[in-house]
Amino acid sequence: MTSRYRQVYAGWKQDPEAFWAEAAHAIDWFSPPQKVFDPDQGVYGRWFAGATCNTCYNAVDRHVENGRGDQTALIHDSAITGTQQSLTYAELQREVMALAAVLARHGVTKGDRVIVYMPMIPEAAVAMLACARLGAIHSVVFGGFAARELATRIDDAQPKLLITASCGLEPNRLVAYKPLLDEAIGLSAHPPQHCIVFQREQLVCDLIAGRDIDYAEAVAKEKEAGLELACVPVAATDPLYVLYTSGTTGQPKGVVRDNGGHMVMLKWTMENEFGVKPGEVFWAASDVGWVVGHSYIVYAPLLHGCTTVMFEGKPVGTPDAGTYWRVISDHGVVALFTAPTAFRAIKGQDPQGEFIGKYDLSTFRTLFLAGERADPETIKWAEQRLGVPVIDHWWQTETGAPITQNPVGLGMLPVKYGSPGVPMPGYDIRVLNDEGHEVPAGTLGNVVLKLPLPPGCLPTLWDADERFRKSYLDAFPGFYNTADAGILDEDGYLFVMARTDDIINVAGHRLSTGAMEEVLAEHPDVAECAVIGISDTLKGQSPLGFVVLNAGVARDTSIIEQEVVTLVRERIGPVAAFRTVLTIKRLPKTRSGKVLRATMQKIADRQEWKMPATIDDPAVLDEIDAVLKARGISR
Ligand code: COA
Ligand code: AMP
Repeated sequence: MTSRYRQVYAGWKQDPEAFWAEAAHAIDWFSPPQKVFDPDQGVYGRWFAGATCNTCYNAVDRHVENGRGDQTALIHDSAITGTQQSLTYAELQREVMALAAVLARHGVTKGDRVIVYMPMIPEAAVAMLACARLGAIHSVVFGGFAARELATRIDDAQPKLLITASCGLEPNRLVAYKPLLDEAIGLSAHPPQHCIVFQREQLVCDLIAGRDIDYAEAVAKEKEAGLELACVPVAATDPLYVLYTSGTTGQPKGVVRDNGGHMVMLKWTMENEFGVKPGEVFWAASDVGWVVGHSYIVYAPLLHGCTTVMFEGKPVGTPDAGTYWRVISDHGVVALFTAPTAFRAIKGQDPQGEFIGKYDLSTFRTLFLAGERADPETIKWAEQRLGVPVIDHWWQTETGAPITQNPVGLGMLPVKYGSPGVPMPGYDIRVLNDEGHEVPAGTLGNVVLKLPLPPGCLPTLWDADERFRKSYLDAFPGFYNTADAGILDEDGYLFVMARTDDIINVAGHRLSTGAMEEVLAEHPDVAECAVIGISDTLKGQSPLGFVVLNAGVARDTSIIEQEVVTLVRERIGPVAAFRTVLTIKRLPKTRSGKVLRATMQKIADRQEWKMPATIDDPAVLDEIDAVLKARGISR
């Protein structure tokens, strides 16, 4: 089939407002937009100004009204407990309505924030939808973060209420959420009034009288009362959620997502970009704590009337490297979306793909990879073993949906290995040099997006317009700075090469080395520190710390290093995967005192590097090289 991509993209470029007005017909509005785009609202304009709508209505209720009530909406498959559970759209509606009633009974109304700190269980999706139903703003916090990270988010979002579970399940351990929750609440200046706690049978926790509410009991009561709680109309421009993501400091950025634009964009991507039809089974193997989970476990598949799979487990070890194929075959999955690291893990344990042959994958059509750079070897391995197209696509928490893609729904374009595809409608991508001038095709530079951003992208950061401008808009006036460096080739394919800030990508998880440095600096024996991301064959990157100790510290450095590793786990969480720190005599710096992290990373990765002209003392780099070699870290 010839791809319709060029024609569709040109159509968007010619008249973006007409394009999105047309796409908006796929959404049920309570009242239509007065303006498709209002350039005078918000920081750079707002989409669908004047419209009213409800995301829960579009994701759940309208499907029940339109005859999908008996269709499975959500399948929960836990490879850890070995259980499967499913909810039809009608059942999902009942669960969401009941939890929304509990929230309302505890004073949650439109615009209130609710933190959702949940493992991968159906109640996490129900919690998000219950907030959406009331027009409350959810903020999901990933379960692998430590108490202090949760506290930071509580203080920024100032939630009225928090929804959690007694535990998460990792393959090697039970993650008790309650102690983390109590510690976070103890640390926060704006604690929620109540916590709704879902008790999992694997670990039942004690509830604090007056503060904690038992999820199952409260929901059962509301079901008995039978209150039919309608979806609350909100402005299209009202926030649906705030999702915190790593910034360049320890203070995470609260990415705001609106209701109207978000629905329009996600609905459009399902058919046109992912090539999936209503009624089909879609599986994003991510976590609801990440943007991929928000967009492609919960909202997009449900808005589109699909069946979504929520998977608790890992690609390997739960119990083996065949788990993904088992899930596809058990549930008739047509498209799987995951991070390349998952495939590197599977390939590492089953290089011949022997597990693949053990399952019926006849429904499976497409594999989508994103979240980090997909190495061509992994893509080719997956293509050959699975016999389906493998599509790398690029986006960010901030955009909520792909920026570049090979839009299988519009018809596949030729694959260029190493490229996550071409710009999707809504995105005018440019590559600029540091002075803000466009570079010729094939040249590396700063990847930027011409304003306005399309529907679904962040309109701002939570309660921080100025930080939004500073972080994204000020560097290149008229453009959003993605903080990715890349190359556009002569055919319009983008190649994403590296971040231009301190963000690293560990197993598809976005982490700030700056935030880790803040923790290292807290150790009483540490005078100076640096954290860099080095290449990792499984996780893409992994963090590596360097510390310079205070003069006169005589303690065993290996003990201090272990303490520092523990500190990062306690402060940021296990997700930081921070396992190695090296004690060095001094850090390499420029004469003006800037730490030469990029050079350190090149040395650690055994890449070619040039002696920076501004270096204060070149001998420091030899010292670092020697320490890396002595610890067997240089690749
Ligand atoms: N709650 C609590 N802890 C969590 C957690 C959660 N939701 N998710 C991860 N962790 C912990 C892990 O248990 C691990 O802890 P440990 O140090 O005690 O072993 C640590 O955080 C690091 O986790 P992870 O980076 O996932 O490494 P891993 O070794 O457990 O697994 C992979 C490696 C590749 C199998 C795994 O990263 C994976 O499945 N990735 C798939 C990609 C993905 O989901 N990306 C998300 C964005 S699309
Ligand atoms: P997150 O906000 O967690 O989704 O992380 C976004 C960042 O991950 C991007 O800015 C990129 O640096 C990186 N990323 C995501 N997808 C890809 C991809 N397909 N190829 C290369 N890098 C990617």
